[in-house]
Order: sequence, then structure tokens, then C-alpha cells
Amino acid sequence: MDIPTDIYGPDAFRREDEADDREFYARDRLVPHLDSRARAAVRDVISQLVVEESPDVLDLMASWDSHLADSVRAASVVGLGLNANELDQNPRLTSRLIHDLNADPVLPFDDATFDVVQNVASVDYLTRPFEVFAEVNRVLRPGGLHLVVFSTRMFPTKAVQVWREAGERGRLIIVEDFFRIAGGFERPRTFVCQGRPRPADDPYADREPLADPIYAVYAEKSGGREDRTERPEPRVEWPAPWDADEVARRAALTRETMTCPHCGEPLTAWEAPDGPFAEWDRAQYHVCFNDGCPFFVRGWDVAARQGNLGYSCRILYDRERDRFRPIPVNGVNSLKCGIVTPSVATP
Ligand SMILES: C[S@@+](CC[C@H](N)C(=O)[O-])C[C@H]1O[C@@H](n2cnc3c(N)ncnc32)[C@H](O)[C@@H]1O
Repeated sequence: MDIPTDIYGPDAFRREDEADDREFYARDRLVPHLDSRARAAVRDVISQLVVEESPDVLDLMASWDSHLADSVRAASVVGLGLNANELDQNPRLTSRLIHDLNADPVLPFDDATFDVVQNVASVDYLTRPFEVFAEVNRVLRPGGLHLVVFSTRMFPTKAVQVWREAGERGRLIIVEDFFRIAGGFERPRTFVCQGRPRPADDPYADREPLADPIYAVYAEKSGGREDRTERPEPRVEWPAPWDADEVARRAALTRETMTCPHCGEPLTAWEAPDGPFAEWDRAQYHVCFNDGCPFFVRGWDVAARQGNLGYSCRILYDRERDRFRPIPVNGVNSLKCGIVTPSVATP
């Protein structure tokens, strides 16, 4: 394997806590590792990508939830992890196995045993990822799927250094590298789902307005049959676009009530930034700052598909000209320093 040592040098896979992983995971953690909206996105991605009718599935680094929707009718689901009680609580597993991948990256399975190998919210703990990915390739059937899903949450003392130091785009590239360098896979593809509002009943809802983002990198083992079912590019479902009458109706409502045409929440008076080349032709506009506005939420997906990961758009309304315009933002707090008063615009 040709591992570039400038990126993956001797410290890349060190962790703050180098003690035996079995000790760290001996304590049961029968809690969700992601918020409920993010978990739903994980279930969706898996069910869209698993096209086999009765696949043999290996859930690597498994715990009590394998995120498999009822629509995934697996012939078998093997859970490999470090905590026996957590695996015992997982209703989808047909067999369970305690195996430390950092101590021994060799998977105890015959060649071509599985159609799907998934690894959810755990790839950041692998200290020998290239060997593990090569092993995953070996135990997959030709055309089988390796799906790696992750978010931004982690046990930081157990995550490897290269992961902790990377940003979100960097982490996608790191997992693509694991696939490419291990070899034997088709070109890895990525999926991003971010910017959804955090469910109101989530324990972190008052601190973090957005749900945990979901990133996936996936690839098939090379050599699959030409006539097998194609895996679709995973999609997040959105409502159909409005027709011209609906657009006109919503614009009229905004004019009358100064509410957002997308979410119906009141618009906020916002001062445009000053500067010699600013293209603002008036000092004040109105902007929708609702983080749950479908325009803003969907914008993260649209921007990611256009290669602008980590961006979305707010909708701005120019009252005097009666015009709307999207303004790009790279976080929920962008533009907020221009809010004129915390109070909402008067109709
Ligand atoms: C954040 S949890 C994610 C669990 C599960 N995949 C999920 O989506 O809920 C991380 C899991 O990785 C497993 N794990 C961590 N280090 C491991 C290792 N060295 N070998 C095998 N599994 C490991 C632990 O047992 C733990 O359940």
C-alpha cells in the first residue's frame, strides 16, 4: 500500500488516550450518538444505498442501533464491536462479535462473505484504517458496498490526530483516501446532509440550533456484475417546486405582512455593510433569520452539491423595490451583526 507519509505521518493515527480500547468501551453507552434528525438521515442513506433484496450485512464498530430501516430485509446482520451488552441490545443483529480492530485489523470472516459493510460514527477511532479498509474489501462480494457514515460528534481522546485536526471537507477527503489507498474499490462517492434544524426536544437544542450534520463516503468493491441493480445517488426528499401562482401568492403575502415567503416567520430589519465597492443600493433590507426556514435549510444541500460545503443562503427582501435575493452565509450567525434591532419589522 502506498501511504503518503507527508499527510499520514507517524503521528497521524495517535490518540490522546492510547490505553486499551476495550477498557474505554467496557462502560455501556446505551445512548444515541446523534440527534434524532441525524439518525433518520443515516437510516435514509443506508436504505437508499442498500439495493440488495436480502443482503448479508456486517455492521463494523457496532453498538445497540444499526440504523437499518424495516425496508432493509437483511438475510444476516453481523455486529462487530467492543461492548457485549450494547451488541446484545441491538435487535437487528443476527450474530455478535467482540473484536478490537486496532489491536487486530484482520476481520475473522472468509473472503466474499458480505454484500454490505457499514461503519457508522466510528471511522475516526481506527488507528490502522488502511488495513481495515483492505480487509473490508476482502470480505465483500464483488459489487458489494462499503458505507462509512460520520458526523462531527466524537470521543475526542479516542479519535485519531489527523481526524481531530481536519475540518469537514478534510474528513471527507481522508475517508476517500482510505478507500483509494486500500485499493480494490470503485471511485468513492460522498453524500452530505447538513443545516436541518435540531429537534426541539433534543438535550442540546438550546445550545446548537442545527442538527448533527451527516457525511457519508461509500464505494463498491470492484468487479461487480454489469447486470446488477445500480445504487442510486442518495437524495434528501424535498417538496416539489411551486408553480407561478403560488410564487405570486407568497410574494403578495410578504408585501402585506413582511413575513418570509418560504417559512412565514417575520422578516428582520438588516443593515447592509458599508464599503466603497459594496453593491448594496440602499442601507436597509429585511432578512429571514429563521434557522429552520426551508430555504435556509435546503440551501446547505444545494451549496454542497455545487462544491460549496458549509454554505447556505438567507433570503433577503428589498421592500422598496419589492425584490427578493439570496445572500450566501457560512454559518447560522453570519450577517447577524447587521440586525438593526432584535425586534421584527412592522407590517
Ligand atoms: C460512537 S460509537 C458508534 C456505535 C454505532 N456504530 C452507532 O452508530 O451507534 C463507537 C463504537 O465504536 C466501537 N469501537 C471503538 N473502537 C473500536 C475498536 N478498536 N474495535 C472495534 N470497535 C471499536 C465501540 O464499541 C463503539 O460502540
